[in-house]
Amino acid sequence: MGTATKTSDSAMHMHLRRPSEDAIQSYYTAMRRFWHPVLAADELPNDTPIGVELLEERLVLTRLNGAVVAMQDLCRHFQAQLSLGEVRTVAGHGQCLMCPYHGWSYSADGRCVEIPQLAADRQIPADAVVPSYLAAERYGLIWVCLDDNPLFELPIFPHVNEPDFLAGPLRKYPTWKASTPRAIMAALDDTHGPWVHEGLVGDRNHPESPEHKVRRDGRNLVINIRMVQPDNPTISENGDPTAKIVNLTTTVGIPNTIHFTIRAEGSERITLIWQAVCPIRYNESLTFWGSSRNYDLDKPAYNDKFERMQDTLREQDRVIVESQRPWLLPPFWTKIELPLRPADLPLIEYQRWLEELGISTML
Ligand code: FES
Ligand SMILES: [Fe+2]
Repeated sequence: MGTATKTSDSAMHMHLRRPSEDAIQSYYTAMRRFWHPVLAADELPNDTPIGVELLEERLVLTRLNGAVVAMQDLCRHFQAQLSLGEVRTVAGHGQCLMCPYHGWSYSADGRCVEIPQLAADRQIPADAVVPSYLAAERYGLIWVCLDDNPLFELPIFPHVNEPDFLAGPLRKYPTWKASTPRAIMAALDDTHGPWVHEGLVGDRNHPESPEHKVRRDGRNLVINIRMVQPDNPTISENGDPTAKIVNLTTTVGIPNTIHFTIRAEGSERITLIWQAVCPIRYNESLTFWGSSRNYDLDKPAYNDKFERMQDTLREQDRVIVESQRPWLLPPFWTKIELPLRPADLPLIEYQRWLEELGISTML
């Protein structure tokens, strides 16, 4: 038995356990360089901080002087959670975040600017600084990057902000017990429809994989396909039982967003669906979900049939994705998984890119 086989044998068993601390940390280190969606923007009030978690780091989000601010959610004094604190104005510094424990106040750059107990002859310690992070709002979400130099810009979802599209409600799904790459891959995978979503977006009489055109475009992996789908509320309102040919452009923002432009052949109706996934921990992900359409602009944005179908699809996916091991995407060399060409090409290309970026890493 050769060495390579032995390595692979031991890998085959290791993956049943939780990832090593080294693997988790290297995943977190690689993921820090990207913008991640952490909260719906309308969930962050003007005057109250909110605590969130990103890559197992607790963050406090707050709005100070009109801008979203993200800091480590621990006060430098005795490490109490700043998200239990409050927004207040400090003379000369505008709005600041005050710790609930002894009232130290921090400005938007994380510097402590006021200490109520400070003796008159003492200065605020130079080390009284909380790490602060890049924060931004887009598509109704608050995005944070834990690295001062993000590898890519904030994602751009094609057509979503165009005036001839009507946006549906922003939705947030309960946390999945899965890693973020696995959640993205479930959305990217276009051959599981007949098995997981039969009758909705899959037909077991058509299990064949569509032909994929896959390319890299900046920070995006872009995939074009034509596929057969049963009629469903995304592609028509007719309830027409005949299967439809659907043109699909999928834009994956590496590593954590996916956007679909969906159009039935011969129709002008275009539906956009996007997902932005927050890697709370290596095995916990939070998905934000949005949709837009260029038809029925006079009807309410919320389309009950469509939204309920999306809930069903997501629930069907959740069961499968939460069952997958290892938690973190294994590198190709382990041969733990057997992606097939050409059927799994989009997944292979996504995984290859993550491996280049150190996100799909050792066990
Ligand atoms: S722990 Fe925050 S002020 Fe003391
Ligand atoms: Fe699915």
